[in-house]
Amino acid sequence: MVARAKAPEPATDRSKEGDLSKGAGLIDGKIVPIADAKLPITDWGFLRSDVTYDVAHVWKGSFFRLDDHLARFQASMKGLRLSIPMDSSDIRRELMNLVRATGLRDAYVSMICTRGSVKPGMPRHPKNCVNRFYSYVLPFVWVMPEDMQARGAHAIMAKTPRIAPESVDPTIKNFHWGDLTRAMFEASDAGADIAFLTDGHGHLTEGPGFNIFAIIDGTVVSPDRGALEGITRKSVFELCDEIGVPYQIRPLHVSELEGADELLTATTAGGVMPVSRLDGRIYGNDRPGPISAKLRQRYWQKHEEGWHATPIQYD
Ligand SMILES: Cc1ncc(COP(=O)(O)O)c(C=O)c1O
Repeated sequence: MVARAKAPEPATDRSKEGDLSKGAGLIDGKIVPIADAKLPITDWGFLRSDVTYDVAHVWKGSFFRLDDHLARFQASMKGLRLSIPMDSSDIRRELMNLVRATGLRDAYVSMICTRGSVKPGMPRHPKNCVNRFYSYVLPFVWVMPEDMQARGAHAIMAKTPRIAPESVDPTIKNFHWGDLTRAMFEASDAGADIAFLTDGHGHLTEGPGFNIFAIIDGTVVSPDRGALEGITRKSVFELCDEIGVPYQIRPLHVSELEGADELLTATTAGGVMPVSRLDGRIYGNDRPGPISAKLRQRYWQKHEEGWHATPIQYD
């Protein structure tokens, strides 16, 4: 890969800022209200889903596990042969500036690298594109509303399998959401809240925007392949160590879910989110089970205590 010259210090231009409290985008180094955050129609990020991204959250004025998100974002860019003239400290500074500009204390923070557009006159090959960095910030997003989390989500096992990892590597965060989107419609058509996807060969993978866990004989088990290596999943395992609950990352066959005591999901945009039904089967008295409830409670309590927190200096 050709190394690009490092850009001068990105000096964020805040001249176009309007009301940013509903969210803001960073496009070509300019902070704009979220409604004005637009990208060129010829960007292959849009045309071909040729893009990677990462999402961090800000809670009560601090980033959570920002270094983990920046490291995964760098690894994802490398995995797709994308490169931008910014290192992690440049990206960190831009994200900090953007959140600070919105004033949001609880926020969803997305960093995106697209393939960009083909340079004029060049053959249409990804190597001839100028890769681009974008970011946007929204008020905190809950992929499952809090009341759903409190009762436990109702899930289905989707008929649509997850895209094969040999085709699209799920450990590189991506927008190849065709399978996940289909599964979301399967869930809503069945009157359920969320969908779990298999690999098409009976093993559980992940869901649209979250990792999945089954609690079997007191052990928290999460699939070892076909899924993103979630940063919330990492937090769940740290919490398991703290509360003395064993965990395993291993192949998880759907047949094992019948004997599971609890089911759980996890994501940055929602935290630790219990499940109380799968395909009509009721788990834990139709409420979050004891281990799930404890993990969820501790996850947020530890946020209050500054766990993995990077405070933002607001104006
Ligand atoms: C497909 C998929 N799996 C898992 C996750 C959970 O990852 P994290 O905990 O790092 O947010 C996400 C998050 O957006 C996701 O999109």
